[in-house]
Amino acid sequence: DTLHRVLRGMPKAELHIHIEGSLEPELIFALAQRNNVRLDYASVEDLRRAYAFTDLQSFLDIYYAGASVLITEQDFYDMTRAYLKRAHEDNVRHVEMFFDPQTHTARGIAFATVIDGISRALADARSEWGISGGLIMCFLRHLSEEEAFATLEQALPYRDRLLGVGLDSSERGHPPEKFARVFARCRELGLHLVAHAGEEGPPDYIRTALDLLKVERIDHGVRCLEDPELTRRVAKDGIALTVCPLSNIKLCVFDALHQHNMRALLDAGLKVTVNSDDPAYFGGYINDNFLQTFDALGLDAGHARQLARNSFSAAFLPASEKQKRL
Ligand code: HPA
Ligand code: ZN
Repeated sequence: DTLHRVLRGMPKAELHIHIEGSLEPELIFALAQRNNVRLDYASVEDLRRAYAFTDLQSFLDIYYAGASVLITEQDFYDMTRAYLKRAHEDNVRHVEMFFDPQTHTARGIAFATVIDGISRALADARSEWGISGGLIMCFLRHLSEEEAFATLEQALPYRDRLLGVGLDSSERGHPPEKFARVFARCRELGLHLVAHAGEEGPPDYIRTALDLLKVERIDHGVRCLEDPELTRRVAKDGIALTVCPLSNIKLCVFDALHQHNMRALLDAGLKVTVNSDDPAYFGGYINDNFLQTFDALGLDAGHARQLARNSFSAAFLPASEKQKRL
């Protein structure tokens, strides 16, 4: 119908996509074969059947196993290329892409291999499709701050290729303050700062991500509404929330899409954006997230316009560049 056409066709920015989470089962098997990596799954169907998650950790275990097939620069290129092609079909015009170097360097893959492959695909997408974008390097919060510092050290030669840094992986038990010093250092380096907070973790993690890490956006942040004072602050300061509705259902943050708090977040005046998180694992790319959420919650063309505007307004683009796209 008309609303679906509007949602599909509108130019949009995607601000919460883990590139390793775009690795489709078919590509996992193709890369496993190419690289002689053994998988614990007999077939694509067998692997896909394992995508029945009960919480964040049950997903992360499979997500890290999937990433183990990535060995060469070409593997990172092929993965990123496949995502960007799919994003282009969804009329994504700007992408701020997370990557998890520690998942790869821990297996003996060079930092350069990872970032070169991803950057080359981004450069091609810019020249072929006019997609702008950049990289946000995430620290794995289940690892130590010392390990995060070591990763930052490895990234320094590539400082100019990074838009910013983020914080992902297991949220519960790994509060933002664990990374206060490394985020302070990244801030001195002029990097943009974001963090996952308030997905599974409590609203307090959103507050400490803002106060102690000084992040500019909150990834997920859906549990914000449990704290009215925090909600007012996040709204007043125009802090964007990069919400991922299908992810929230697959990881049991909400029981069903019609119970998602997207409409309530918008009604609270929060700068909400719609994103896919890990599209190969959660059953949909960005337009699937838009269409299914709009259907489930009865959102309208006004909401569509607001969400598209928010995606560019929340992007780390120069003000002049933003203005053109709003
Ligand atoms: N949350 C935390 N860590 C992640 C996610 C997520 O949704 N996706 C990939 N790593
Ligand atoms: Zn995420």
